[in-house]
Amino acid sequence: MTTTTIRIGIIGSGGIAGMHAAAYKTIPGVEIAAVADAIPGKAAEFVERHGLSGTLAFDDYRELLQLDLDGVSVCTPNSAHRQPTVDSLEAGKHVLLEKPMSVTLDEGLDMVRASRRSGRMLTIGFQPRYDPNMKLIQDIVRSGKLGKVYYVETGGGRRRGMPGGTFIRKELAGAGAMADIGCYSLDLALNALDYPKPLTVSASTFNHFGRNPVYHPEADRFDVEDFGTALIRFEGDLTLHFKISWAMHLDSLGTTNFLGTDAGLKITPFGQGNWSGVWDGKVGSIQMFHDFMGGQTMTQVPLVEHAIDLFREKVRDFVDAIREGRGAPIPGEQILIQQAIIDGVLRSAEQRAEVSVSVPDFAGGPAED
Ligand SMILES: NC(=O)c1ccc[n+]([C@@H]2O[C@H](COP(=O)([O-])OP(=O)(O)OC[C@H]3O[C@@H](n4cnc5c(N)ncnc54)[C@H](O)[C@@H]3O)[C@@H](O)[C@H]2O)c1
Repeated sequence: MTTTTIRIGIIGSGGIAGMHAAAYKTIPGVEIAAVADAIPGKAAEFVERHGLSGTLAFDDYRELLQLDLDGVSVCTPNSAHRQPTVDSLEAGKHVLLEKPMSVTLDEGLDMVRASRRSGRMLTIGFQPRYDPNMKLIQDIVRSGKLGKVYYVETGGGRRRGMPGGTFIRKELAGAGAMADIGCYSLDLALNALDYPKPLTVSASTFNHFGRNPVYHPEADRFDVEDFGTALIRFEGDLTLHFKISWAMHLDSLGTTNFLGTDAGLKITPFGQGNWSGVWDGKVGSIQMFHDFMGGQTMTQVPLVEHAIDLFREKVRDFVDAIREGRGAPIPGEQILIQQAIIDGVLRSAEQRAEVSVSVPDFAGGPAED
């Protein structure tokens, strides 16, 4: 393995940027060359707080993009993902973009087109992909053991787990629970199915907790959904029921289920308590339901025990992909499918009607193994 130094920039120096910086610091041969944030002085304060000696700080990310950098982590709020990402790709930098990819399909398309035009990778930061049990689920579905998969239920429910700050303001986050944690559930289900193309979405979204000061201290600023549900039809006669909650009067919205003609797969989220009940990188259990010798049976699939730091792993994989000149580990082209769905959810909920979804030919499909 070459030891050429990989020079990285970080755009947006809020909460998650700290985890990017911490991860890059542990990877040999990586230099965090610069950080930028739109709030004057915030990047400089970040550089100091994280002990990044020699790292430059800018109040305008376009100055950071003038530097000779190999890659950029884009860590801005969802509605501010598009422009820094497009500009970074056009400036010849590879991009690790935080999840969710964007809010609208058009934003996602702009970023993927910039990646294809520039020949620079656009990878989306879904760290749960690095859980070996996610790979196990994908291997089971791909193995054909379920037969033809015709129905999937995914999503999950936090009983009371609403974030605040930039996450709850439509102008910055674009969407609420659907985009924030729903994107993980969609990735769990759709990655296992190699990202089929969606055709229609029928959705409803609600905000009964966020806007209520009894439940949220920033209720007056909370203007995204705290709960959403959607029925999505895909090519290949597949239907997916998606539901996700930041807050509700219930302990759980159940498991992620794949129904196939030969077997069914049930995935239970890990953990207990208000903030659990959603897929965020750890699997509680995997069970396969099937018939055997004329009887109905269930096989408990043994989980892979591991102590992988999933977040560090996604950052390391980005760096390795740059070093090795490989494609994006989690390609923008694939995650465009999610954007089409989230975009469809928001349109359908607003129109109170089913909407059509259309994605270009290059969207979807499996990631490189
Ligand atoms: N992968 C994960 O586990 C994970 C966890 C939390 C957040 N996130 C994602 O990370 C992103 C950022 O979340 P956060 O919690 O760090 O938010 P945050 O509000 O703490 O930080 C965002 C920062 O971006 C800056 N910013 C906004 N527009 C900018 C621009 N045009 N140029 C430069 N800086 C700009 C803001 O000033 C702010 O400092 C979101 O998309 C969120 O969904 C991912």
